Amino acid sequence: MAERWFFAIWPEPGAREALTGQLDALIPPRARRTHPLDLHLTLVFLGEIDTERLRCAEAAAGALRGDPFPLRIDRVGWFPRSRVLWCGPSTTPAPLQGLFADLQDQLRTCGFTPESRPYQPHVTLARDVRRRPQIRPLAPVEWTVSTLVLAAGQSGGVPRYQVHRRWRLGEDPAATRHPGEAG
Ligand code: 2AM
Repeated sequence: MAERWFFAIWPEPGAREALTGQLDALIPPRARRTHPLDLHLTLVFLGEIDTERLRCAEAAAGALRGDPFPLRIDRVGWFPRSRVLWCGPSTTPAPLQGLFADLQDQLRTCGFTPESRPYQPHVTLARDVRRRPQIRPLAPVEWTVSTLVLAAGQSGGVPRYQVHRRWRLGEDPAATRHPGEAG
């Protein structure tokens, strides 16, 4: 099966642990829980793309400007249609909205159509949540977002997603990092 690509924000390890530690309390029985290493917040979904468009998307990300910003995940919600239990920020920080808008804008040059729906930042905690779950409070989790990542995944893999490339916010766009590099 082909890989599906997306730009995302991955939580810092401490934030990931703080989220993971709360999953037992948040996720109803029989739901399909997200692997801790797969917890992330998607910015822009690209889907199955060829190498040329992938290179173009990477160049688009490399052209972005923006500084690190704090992100506070403090609410839990449920999408009935996709049967997803999620957590996210109760208000979208302006730098996150700006990063989303700028990335979409840059991606136009590669032929990607911007998402018309409003951006709803979320971290999928579990899938197959068929009935409205009891929404339990989340102890807020906060970290400084300093990296944009390009990831891809296939359904069935465990963990499901792989980070292929990273860009540090607030850094010279030429200085991009690959997985395995320090920092
Ligand atoms: P989800 O967790 O809400 O399903 C990889 O699949 C990532 O891209 C996931 O974060 C997923 O969101 C998101 N994604 C998958 N299909 C998408 C689509 N058609 N539009 C927007 N995001 C999508």
